[in-house]
Amino acid sequence: MPSRRTFLKATAATAGTLAALPQVHAGGSDWLKVGLVGCGGRGSGAIEQALGADPYAKVWALADVFPERADACHAKLKAKFADRTDITADRIFGGLDGYKSLIDSGVDVVLLCTTPAFRPAQLRYAVQKKKHIFCEKPMAVDAPGVRHVLETARMAKEANLNLVSGFCYRYDLPKRATIAKIHEGAIGDVLAIHTTYLTGYLWNFERQPGWSDTEYQLRNWMYYTWLSGDHIVEQHIHSLDKAAWVLKDAHPLNAISVAGRQTRVEEKWGNIYDHFATVYEFPGNVKVFSFCRQISGCANDVNDHVIGSKGSAQLQKHTIEPTGGPKWSYSGESPNMYDQEHLELFQAIRSGKTINQGEQMAYSTMLGILGRMAGYTGKKITWDQAMNSQEDLMPKNLDLKASLPFPPVAKPGRTKFE
Ligand SMILES: NC(=O)c1ccc[n+]([C@@H]2O[C@H](COP(=O)([O-])OP(=O)(O)OC[C@H]3O[C@@H](n4cnc5c(N)ncnc54)[C@H](O)[C@@H]3O)[C@@H](O)[C@H]2O)c1
Repeated sequence: MPSRRTFLKATAATAGTLAALPQVHAGGSDWLKVGLVGCGGRGSGAIEQALGADPYAKVWALADVFPERADACHAKLKAKFADRTDITADRIFGGLDGYKSLIDSGVDVVLLCTTPAFRPAQLRYAVQKKKHIFCEKPMAVDAPGVRHVLETARMAKEANLNLVSGFCYRYDLPKRATIAKIHEGAIGDVLAIHTTYLTGYLWNFERQPGWSDTEYQLRNWMYYTWLSGDHIVEQHIHSLDKAAWVLKDAHPLNAISVAGRQTRVEEKWGNIYDHFATVYEFPGNVKVFSFCRQISGCANDVNDHVIGSKGSAQLQKHTIEPTGGPKWSYSGESPNMYDQEHLELFQAIRSGKTINQGEQMAYSTMLGILGRMAGYTGKKITWDQAMNSQEDLMPKNLDLKASLPFPPVAKPGRTKFE
């Protein structure tokens, strides 16, 4: 384990705010105990980034609906961070409610990295129990979930809890610098944004004997709208969040979308679409043209072009091209954005400052949900309609062992807005 002296030296180099350390830890110890909910790909990365961000953070508990995933994560952590992994068998939790036991196990910081559908409930419980939180995107999969998160974010603010977002581009220093220049007027007024997340197929787990419908869907969560929100909410949300950031988190007036399921048509792909082409109209006649696709064998592209009255910018390339002026491109430092989000979270906890991105995260998530609603129904959907939607996608009485029919693939022009 690092000595207190090493800790102070190391953190002073990165954080510079360590004098406050002993006071800020509620338990009176120097250690911050971190619990991870959702030990999959992202969660396993996030817990390492948390350890990297603060030499006196240690892993205290793990939860995953499938406990073998928590066990696998535990084994990896022990191998890599033996002196920072302080987990006993009774602090590894399985099942759908395991997150509550984790949050009640004495942790100071919780990383919420599960499948998106469960985020609103998990976030609420973590805030009620006064934990600092790192929370992956998206925040919810439907409007009731977004409204719930907005309320939870307000509760977190009142309790001075940190709520740091997995909308990782907001922690990318080159993007911060590029968007700051746009906000300073480097390309004049923003007129339009063209944003893409065009990629191929992702993983799929073959059904195993003994798996219930619920287990099968949970293991292939990306392909069920109730679990992921569809890929416009789960993946393309990064692009929409960048657009929202450029537009100072303004809300759109409405969206219209041409979307469908062209090649991922077999049952194993659940009920999500494979492409959306969505136009968001913002106040002032500003448009966001947004394209996402998960179809292999096509042109891939992840980019954001911002078109202004006096030039243009590219967010992924960190460049600004003013009309008639010299091109600017970012040349400063570029730390890994996933490390940066944890660094800023732990610095805030240590220094007694608070970061609360809950509202911003919820509204960015809502952009994806609005686009999905417009795509599924084929209608122009307004922001107000979407925000007030009563469509609750969570199945009633969810049971890991039970059968679970899922709604048919939406059909534009026939699927009703709810
Ligand atoms: N910010 C980013 O760049 C980024 C990158 C990848 C994933 N993500 C997000 O992270 C989240 C997880 O994605 P992933 O790629 O790690 O998926 P994953 O399937 O690898 O991991 C999700 C884990 O959550 C567990 N889980 C599901 N429901 C649970 C519940 N109710 N309680 C406890 N555990 C539960 C699953 O068993 C699984 O181990 C998603 O929201 C995804 O959008 C963000």
